[in-house]
Amino acid sequence: MGIFFNKRTQTFHLFNDNISYIMTVLPGGQMGQLYFGKKIHHREDFSYLLETAPRPMASYLFENDRTFSLEHIRQEYGVYGSTDYRSPAVDILQENGARICDFQYVDHMITPGKPKLAGLPATYTEEDSEADTLILILRDPVTGIRLQLLYTIFSGENAIARSAAFYNDGDKTVHLQKAMSLCMDLPDYNYDLMHFSGAWSRERHTKIRSLEMGIQSVGSMRGHSSHEHNPFVILKRKTADEFQGEAIGFSLVYSGNFLAQVEVDTHETTRVLLGIHPDWFDWKLEPESSFQTPEAVMFYTDQGLNHLSQTCHRLYQKRLARGYWRDKVRPILINNWEATYFNFTEDKLVEIASRAKECGVELFVLDDGWFGARRNDRAGLGDWTPALSLLPGGIKGIADKIEALGMKFGLWFEPEMVNMDSDLYRAHPDWILSTPNRSASHGRYQHVLDFSRPEVVDCIYQMMKRILSEAKISYIKWDMNRSITECYSAALPADRQGEVFHRYILGVYDLYERLTSQFPEILFESCASGGARFDPGMLYYAPQAWTSDDTDAVERLKIQYGSSYCYPLSSMGSHVSVCPNHQLNRTTPLYTRANVAYFGTFGYELDLNKLTEEEQEEVKEQIKFMKQYRELFQFGTFYRLSSPFENNVTAWMVVSEDKREAIVGWYRILNVVNEAFHRIPLKGLDPELCYHSLADGNSYYGDELMYAGLITSDSSAGETTPETEHSCDFDSRLYILKA
Ligand code: DGJ
Repeated sequence: MGIFFNKRTQTFHLFNDNISYIMTVLPGGQMGQLYFGKKIHHREDFSYLLETAPRPMASYLFENDRTFSLEHIRQEYGVYGSTDYRSPAVDILQENGARICDFQYVDHMITPGKPKLAGLPATYTEEDSEADTLILILRDPVTGIRLQLLYTIFSGENAIARSAAFYNDGDKTVHLQKAMSLCMDLPDYNYDLMHFSGAWSRERHTKIRSLEMGIQSVGSMRGHSSHEHNPFVILKRKTADEFQGEAIGFSLVYSGNFLAQVEVDTHETTRVLLGIHPDWFDWKLEPESSFQTPEAVMFYTDQGLNHLSQTCHRLYQKRLARGYWRDKVRPILINNWEATYFNFTEDKLVEIASRAKECGVELFVLDDGWFGARRNDRAGLGDWTPALSLLPGGIKGIADKIEALGMKFGLWFEPEMVNMDSDLYRAHPDWILSTPNRSASHGRYQHVLDFSRPEVVDCIYQMMKRILSEAKISYIKWDMNRSITECYSAALPADRQGEVFHRYILGVYDLYERLTSQFPEILFESCASGGARFDPGMLYYAPQAWTSDDTDAVERLKIQYGSSYCYPLSSMGSHVSVCPNHQLNRTTPLYTRANVAYFGTFGYELDLNKLTEEEQEEVKEQIKFMKQYRELFQFGTFYRLSSPFENNVTAWMVVSEDKREAIVGWYRILNVVNEAFHRIPLKGLDPELCYHSLADGNSYYGDELMYAGLITSDSSAGETTPETEHSCDFDSRLYILKA
């Protein structure tokens, strides 16, 4: 691995064993992009990769020259309006109304390891040998603004982390109106764009479309990364699939408004932009001040989408997530939300917890409704003091009772919100985001606290800290249940209102940072009405996230499958809930609900007392099983085998690092009469090892299972007989393989 700079040719080559990233200083001083992809030999001069040709109707930067048009040269950080007409990475409004800027190479630094990004979540290294970082220093000669582009190449991963920082070294204030984290120009457009889109309760469904000339994009303007789209897109070659072929993933380590945009120009080059959404973004950059963009990470593979995802999983599990829980298997929890909603007493909670304890559950989570006047969703948010009418001994009282049962105790918070019917709102009506002289829209009867104001963040921190210090709390579910509207801060002047969305997220990160460092052993699970903030920014503070409010096993197949393109199984909150399911009214077998939830952090979202004795016995077995295999589920290598978006059968598997253990999950949505015989070729096994299959008691070599395939047909392939009683809709099986 290394970062090489050739002084004569002014070329940078970043490479590790698998990937190369090459760029050069252009004749005009700008940075040009030459290559990103599979590793190629290092050489002194890559200038042959720079394509300059005279084109009719182009605009040219130099007098008496018809070759140098920025529009036709791939850029590292494109600007608009000075011979480049594509959508730019940056837009700076200057005091005189001008917007042109021209960032020219001045210098660079190469350092081992990876510097921190102040106040922002980012990937990190533990040893300097894990990565090298290149800091390119560019300057716009007219405004004096210094732009620093950071590139970190990881030694063991096909990943490059990037970000941009602006320093106003000039003497005039400017307004940064667009500052993307990443601009990546690719030499062709023979790609499909994959994005992960949906809505509440159907988050991160896989969508694929062919790249076309013009602009295609996904993004969020909701103040959170959103249920609707995820800050992760993939460009994959049209011939690539899960198991082979080239693809590049683009992931933004950020939880607020974002834009992921792909522009194909009519000369067939592709520009990817990823960063804070430029709509409503306007950062006032005074002399001597600076602005740091969030980090974006590019992942490369030439071995298919599973390989790409495995790289994301490793990097994000080990070098984005942090802290005490990063490498630990997660406690099996029970959450009272779907069991009681707001309708509970302390006795009821203890009853739920006691039965759960008998079944082997390790952590009891008290969800919404334990504080202030929060007896329904119209009141109390913001008042983080226990409701003594429900919990006579306060949080300490209930936590002690749960601990006495031999379980850990977890608690729900929604720190960023307030109901108008609350003491906090009555004391500080100006603490919500709302625009003067306009009505303030609500979502679920609640309003968004102005987290761009440090005093607001501090007030919530003090309330939470008191609760966390008084009682033994082992887990926090941090919820966020509405999008931002009428975004405006009463504390900021007119010319800084464009900063509010970003300052809000910085406030959220600040609160997370303070709480996670003050209480390092608490396990944080992020949540936003299910999966509206399932993003790498959150993963930095909370190593797991509530994947979706949809707990139906069939829906979860799609949600967890789509989420797995970027996020590791250890980050996916997944629970067994009651049937008929509360979101869909669907009834699925209890074993199928567990077979889906095992591929995540695992827990229950119901009152086990309401299950039959037979079902409770089944639950005990499930918990025993998960305790035995959770290391494999949560930290094994995950492969997608058959997609729920395309097939009646979904299949996926996890393999241990030493390849001696694997578990395949097989799920058939609708039963099929007189079905064909099916085999599924497995992945990631050792062809030389012989695996014992617990499902049929036979043994098979890894090569048989991978090349001939795992036989998944059962006797229902013929006709239904009493022996095929398991053959039903929403059927599933686990195949446990041990070398
Ligand atoms: C939305 C979450 O996703 C649910 O799990 C639950 O915590 C509710 N909020 C509580 O209001």
